[in-house]
Amino acid sequence: MNLLLFGPPGAGKGTQAKLLSKRKNLIHVSTGDLLRETASKTTPIAKKLKNFMEKGDLVPDQMVIEIIKNEIQNLKKLKKSGFLIDGFPRTLVQAKSLETMLENIKEALEKVILIEVDSKKLIHRLTGRRVCENCKAIFHKDSLKKSSCPHCHSPLDQRTDDQIQFIQKRLSIYEKTTKPILQFYEAKNLVQKVKGEGDVEEVYQKIINA
Ligand code: AP5
Repeated sequence: MNLLLFGPPGAGKGTQAKLLSKRKNLIHVSTGDLLRETASKTTPIAKKLKNFMEKGDLVPDQMVIEIIKNEIQNLKKLKKSGFLIDGFPRTLVQAKSLETMLENIKEALEKVILIEVDSKKLIHRLTGRRVCENCKAIFHKDSLKKSSCPHCHSPLDQRTDDQIQFIQKRLSIYEKTTKPILQFYEAKNLVQKVKGEGDVEEVYQKIINA
């Protein structure tokens, strides 16, 4: 099964993608993770990326496409049951480019899962998000008993773009630029909506049912 997880910042795309890829043996491709990894290096491109990402702006199409291209080309070589893309595409240019990249490897998307969550809840989730600096597990501060990662005991980080002014910018970019590309997938009859409210396991079940 080849899936795309779509939805606003904080909808739970990363959380669900980690569960789905582990339990259903899918390759997880996340542009957010790929870009953060590239931005953490000491290269000229890393500095450019940080400037966009830390302020909640979209990274320009050509830069993202260049970074994801290799991952897509390699999908065929990895022996898994399918793939799961999260965080890409966010513009129509990216959507068309993904279609071409998949055609080139004789693959196609089978479903686009849109995770919908009320905007007040999104802000609460994002301001309280904590990410393990080592294993990259995602938590919310309200569900943490300690200030370290429950899985590997490493310190937890708060993303720079999870400050309220950047969250608001990211939500507004989603509404204006990213959400409209759903029409591209609706025209192909690929979109399935899932309510992203309820606990993580409940949302997981809704995705499986979809
Ligand atoms: P990216 O990392 O993709 O960020 P995002 O789309 O803003 O999405 P988030 O990671 O914020 O949210 P999520 O839906 O994954 O939620 P999560 O599971 O973590 O991108 C970051 C930046 O990179 C962008 O701003 C941009 O600059 C750049 N970028 C990336 N892709 C790009 C592209 N294609 N083009 C251009 N630029 C690009 O959950 C959030 C919180 O909610 C956590 O605390 C979690 O514990 C909690 N939570 C999750 N599920 C539940 C639940 N069911 N109930 C209660 N809490 C929950």
